Amino acid sequence: MSSIEKKIESLREQIREHDYKYYVLAQPAISDQEYDKLIKELETLEKQYPELITPDSPTQRVGNDLTKDFKPVEHKIPMLSLSNTYSEDELYDFDRRVRDGLADDEKVEYLVELKIDGASVSINYVNGVLKTAATRGDGTIGEEITNNVRTIKSIPLKIKKDKSISYKLNDFEVRGEIFMNIADFENLNKEREKSGEKTFANPRNSTAGTLKLQDPRIVARRPLNSFTYSLISPGDELKSQEDNLFILQKLGFKVNEHFKKCSSIEEVVKVCKEFEILREKLKYEIDGAVIKVNSIMQQNKLGSIAKAPRWAVAFKFKSKQTSTVVRAITWQVGRTGAVTPVAELTPKFLAGSTISRATLHNFDEIERKDIRVGDTVVIEKGGDVIPKVVEVLLSERPSGSRKTKPPEKCPVCGSKLFKPDGEVAFYCENSECPDQIKGRLEHFASRGAMDIEGLGESLIDLFVEKGFLKTYSDIYTLENLKDDLIDIDRLGERSISNLLNSIERSKKKPFDKVLFALGIRYVGSGAAKKLAAHFKSLDSLIKATEKEIVEVYEIGESISKSVKKFFSDSHNKKILEELKKAGLKFTFTDAKTDFVGDSFFKGKTFVLTGSLSSFTREEAEEKITNFGGNVTSSVSKKTDYVLAGEKAGSKLDKAKTLGISILDENEFQKKIKEAELK
Ligand code: IVH
Repeated sequence: MSSIEKKIESLREQIREHDYKYYVLAQPAISDQEYDKLIKELETLEKQYPELITPDSPTQRVGNDLTKDFKPVEHKIPMLSLSNTYSEDELYDFDRRVRDGLADDEKVEYLVELKIDGASVSINYVNGVLKTAATRGDGTIGEEITNNVRTIKSIPLKIKKDKSISYKLNDFEVRGEIFMNIADFENLNKEREKSGEKTFANPRNSTAGTLKLQDPRIVARRPLNSFTYSLISPGDELKSQEDNLFILQKLGFKVNEHFKKCSSIEEVVKVCKEFEILREKLKYEIDGAVIKVNSIMQQNKLGSIAKAPRWAVAFKFKSKQTSTVVRAITWQVGRTGAVTPVAELTPKFLAGSTISRATLHNFDEIERKDIRVGDTVVIEKGGDVIPKVVEVLLSERPSGSRKTKPPEKCPVCGSKLFKPDGEVAFYCENSECPDQIKGRLEHFASRGAMDIEGLGESLIDLFVEKGFLKTYSDIYTLENLKDDLIDIDRLGERSISNLLNSIERSKKKPFDKVLFALGIRYVGSGAAKKLAAHFKSLDSLIKATEKEIVEVYEIGESISKSVKKFFSDSHNKKILEELKKAGLKFTFTDAKTDFVGDSFFKGKTFVLTGSLSSFTREEAEEKITNFGGNVTSSVSKKTDYVLAGEKAGSKLDKAKTLGISILDENEFQKKIKEAELK
């Protein structure tokens, strides 16, 4: 090694050590100026000797390249999820199942950890250096987010050397949770609000959204943090979960300090309760505890069923609740025209954000819970984002509390309301109602749909009011109004050009996202995926009969009716033409299928009947579609295979009469294995 190489390597080692002290231990040893000096020195040398730059250098965390597509990656070892428990009794049941799966005389130890509420990642290290990182995805196939994960300073690009570790660790996976501290999340939201951007609902969404940004330079500026909790190294015989956490710490990863070894389930219950109290004091969000059998040998003996291990379970905490006063009940018009009541509350801080509104769902719910203006109510934030009213504290009802009446006219446009038979909601029938227009546009631009960064609620309101936007296709002609947009006081030239760029990028969104974005009633993101994968193009979906649509596995009559209705509307037809001209994707390309290549399943149509023992129906269907097959609900000449489980009924008989090939569960499993190995 030349003296320059030595100098460079020594600087890198020093910087790595300081990063570790600052970001992992939170115990900085030098001042910011001293640190910057080291970085500068390294940068200067690397500029002089670019041939000596290695990907694990601390200067190489943030790349300049945009990630255009997040490539699918297969997890060599599936990323399992956990079954949930909600009570002491369920924890005792878990303990019983664990003991049943082991020999009578075996001692069982558990490790109880915090369940961090973030986004999980799997990171692969080869010869000590970070190689790839991926999201969980469906547990089998995730998306590659290496460039974004590299920017997170608490994740080492190169592991620390530790002589006390006797394992080889030449090719291992580290799994853990990426998250944001509550305070960091709030600051980020404040900044976004100031610049007119969409705010995030909670730290978890904010983290997941950040990990999927295309520009790693923006990711690097976001306050992402990490805790790791799994070490998987197929070449080594690891001993226990507790040991793994210690090894992770020694390798330089951030491991949460709160974990506890328990030698009985009684102790586990006690620790879960302690953690639930601790939750209030933490700087980050947790939604439960995770209980793991400590011995890896025992974990292997117990194995897993379907998608969850038998050796671990989550204990979910109760949703956080608080009480506040209902100041008014207002009515809001959604994109479908549904008029829903909203409780306007005295603002109150709960679980990471300030709550000032809660949905009341519909008028029947107000009556059932007898919610009145002036009441003090208990509100709760569950797994979902929108808080809800749990109950009224009747003992605190003031004498002046007022009952509310359902509105007679649309609160926004004044047109008359309609209540379809069998539905609890009232609808505004005017599709030109400004709030319906805004709601549709917000849905179209939202993260799960076309994901147009910057086109959030406040900008849409403004653009609709100014007459710039009315239909989806207007979004794609906004660039013609660039000068008018720049004239708007609030918006700078830069934010307009960012907006126009993200509009341009949205044209690359896959067909199923476009289909979902159209906001066809009852077509959620799941149904949109199924329809897109089955019909492959908008033209063939438009041509399909109602019967052909219902044939698609898990697509019911209400969806198929609504799809037909949407596409027969002349106004919608016109918008679709315009969107097509703008260059949106109206045909299906299956990234996953391309990725797994040819398989037994590709292009074949399957019908499932009877019950399977090692898959749920959904899982079997997911496997088939992931490998490029289709699943429909009834047997016809077009069916290639019928997958018949236990107690298969008339569908199997029909398949036999039509001479269709039949697969039993064993054969199916074999085919899945083969496809996975390809
Ligand atoms: S262990 C087979 N430990 O919870 C083991 N998961 O529903 C699976 N999570 O996807 C994961 N904190 O994202 C484990 N201490 C912890 C965790 C944890 C949070 C998340 C993880 C996983 C989900 C399971």
